Amino acid sequence: MINNSKYNAVITGVGMYVPDDVLDNDYFSSYLDTNDEWIVSRTGIKERRILKNGATSDMAYGALKDLIDTTGLDPNEIDVIIVATVTPDMLFPATACIVQEKIGAANAWGFDLSAACSGFLFAVQTGAAFITSGAFKKVVVIGADKMTSIVDYSDRNNCILFGDAAGAILLEATEDKTLGIKDSILHIDGTGVDVLNMKGGGSLNPPTHETIDKKMHYLYQEGKAVYKRAVLGMAEVSAEVVEKNNLKPEDIAWLVPHQANLRIIDSTAKRMGIGMEKVMINIHKYGNTTSGTIPTCLAEYYRDGKVKKGDNLVFSAFGAGYTWGAIYLTWGID
Ligand code: COA
Repeated sequence: MINNSKYNAVITGVGMYVPDDVLDNDYFSSYLDTNDEWIVSRTGIKERRILKNGATSDMAYGALKDLIDTTGLDPNEIDVIIVATVTPDMLFPATACIVQEKIGAANAWGFDLSAACSGFLFAVQTGAAFITSGAFKKVVVIGADKMTSIVDYSDRNNCILFGDAAGAILLEATEDKTLGIKDSILHIDGTGVDVLNMKGGGSLNPPTHETIDKKMHYLYQEGKAVYKRAVLGMAEVSAEVVEKNNLKPEDIAWLVPHQANLRIIDSTAKRMGIGMEKVMINIHKYGNTTSGTIPTCLAEYYRDGKVKKGDNLVFSAFGAGYTWGAIYLTWGID
């Protein structure tokens, strides 16, 4: 990433929404050949939240409302709303439009961004570029996914992994270049298309009785293949952004990793040379919430008083596509 402007984009607010309803591991062992011990030891997940009524936009709205309630942001001041999601309310219009109307952001434009588990990361970089270019002053970035709407609950390989959640951040400009987003390394590689996807519903396989019978409207994943690439991709890119910026492990206050599997997170921390006490974790409570993982971690840890102004953070993610990357930033909220 190159930023020659006099501004950095800095996070000035956080918000989150998780549904109330909980699915614990025992729920799955009540009808599938699985158990709590297997799920916890292989993934780190103990329970996840499910949105019984409503859509992704309801959670995105909830996260943005939480941000507004805690920062005092006037919805009319929002310039751009970016919603990272793979579970939009509809293929079109963009979920960002639905959120804009619900929150009453009369002066905003916006769009959805599709990059699966790296969606929030890619949306942060996009929003930051809008800020540092000087084109826009207040950009809201939301990561929101109702993964339970695309998970096959008879597939024990995948149904245990995912949950529903949303998180939001506000990006604004700062002339204090010691704060805010300082670097990013982002990648896509289409050789991953076949191992993690949802085949039905798009222009390739428009919905028919046959696509439904073949379960093509559900998430498809070859877990082992994805796992191998994810371990490598997330660990390498996180270490690379740290080394590129001449940071030592002790300079990093927090690694904020995408929460797909605790073992992937553990490998990333090890590769970076940092202990797990400096890694934000909420996978045990929420599972993999796709675009929701990083912003919900941020909101929870910040509100617990664990993130301080001046702390160096590394966001990192890996997901379908493949998509992956890391962002290095310095926290700017007191
Ligand atoms: N309960 C019990 N056994 C299960 C199970 C479950 N819920 N799900 C799968 N198994 C079985 C498999 O069928 C397999 O049995 P087999 O050896 O008889 O075929 C066995 O457990 C081992 O499967 P394996 O795939 O080797 O397990 P794993 O250690 O790789 O863990 C995942 C499986 C899904 C947890 C892991 O592959 C993973 O996390 N993948 C990537 C997830 C990810 O990052 N996805 C999104 C990218 S963001």
